[in-house]
Amino acid sequence: MLSVSVKEFLFWKKKQLFKGGDQQSFAFLIDCVGGISTNDLNLLSLNPETKLNLKKNLEFLESVWEKYLLNSTPIQYLCGISFWRDLELKVTNKVLIPRPETELIVDIVFRIFGRKSQKLFFAELGTGSGAISIALAIAYPLWDGVATDIDKDVLKIASKNYRNSCKRSNLKFYCGHWWNPLESFKGKLDLVISNPPYIPKDTYEKLPKEVKNFEPKIALLGGEDGLEHIREIIQKAPLFLKEKGWLILENHFDQAEKVKQLLLKNKFTSIEIVNDLSGIGRFTIGRYK
Ligand SMILES: C[S@@+](CC[C@H](N)C(=O)[O-])C[C@H]1O[C@@H](n2cnc3c(N)ncnc32)[C@H](O)[C@@H]1O
Repeated sequence: MLSVSVKEFLFWKKKQLFKGGDQQSFAFLIDCVGGISTNDLNLLSLNPETKLNLKKNLEFLESVWEKYLLNSTPIQYLCGISFWRDLELKVTNKVLIPRPETELIVDIVFRIFGRKSQKLFFAELGTGSGAISIALAIAYPLWDGVATDIDKDVLKIASKNYRNSCKRSNLKFYCGHWWNPLESFKGKLDLVISNPPYIPKDTYEKLPKEVKNFEPKIALLGGEDGLEHIREIIQKAPLFLKEKGWLILENHFDQAEKVKQLLLKNKFTSIEIVNDLSGIGRFTIGRYK
């Protein structure tokens, strides 16, 4: 621990923010790398005469902040951490930074199955950091889950996040293209979730540089119209879901109606478009027959 006076720290903080960047990213850095929670950071000015114990010195914190300002690297990649629901997840530039809107998928599951559900078998296709599957494996100790991804390195991060988040063994990780690793689970899944890459090609080219230059293209690009992966996932879902099994998909802001039509075409019922907190039809859900 490195001790620094609050006065000195606040002066230094002002200097850093004067260089650019936003309060929220700065607070993220001070929390993850400096070891001072955002709550404590906000209260510092009330006690300017006291001392502060930092995990890293001000020179180090300044060097990370300058890297962030220089080329817009997402602060989560620089700190190696992302917070999602109540999880603290390791992230590298191999995995998508899990987004706040995706947190609602877990609430959709709570709404469908309640909080105390009996034994059930679920799969997540394209798990990335593992966020969704880990949250479900923790919330439902009686459930068994499999989380897949196309990238072996991504799965290493996801399984590490799982080990770091709990001491359970109800989640397994498999590598491969969408349904391929799940051949032996045909007709056995009660619930499948996916937040697949769904950005249309034209939109992808225009993404802000902090996304396009740093986050993995394979996690974002959904082909020409953005629906390439969603189409494949829906078409093969009937082979893998149990009768009345649920499929929950995240989609781009304007895709929900098209996803709904794809579900109808593939004999899904109870189809519903679920809005995110901004009122956007971000999720499309349905049951296989
Ligand atoms: C939008 S990210 C979602 C990550 C994570 N589930 C989340 O919500 O933050 C999509 C994920 O799908 C994976 N992916 C891309 N193409 C895939 C494929 N053909 N088969 C399986 N996974 C794939 C990517 O590696 C990435 O981790």
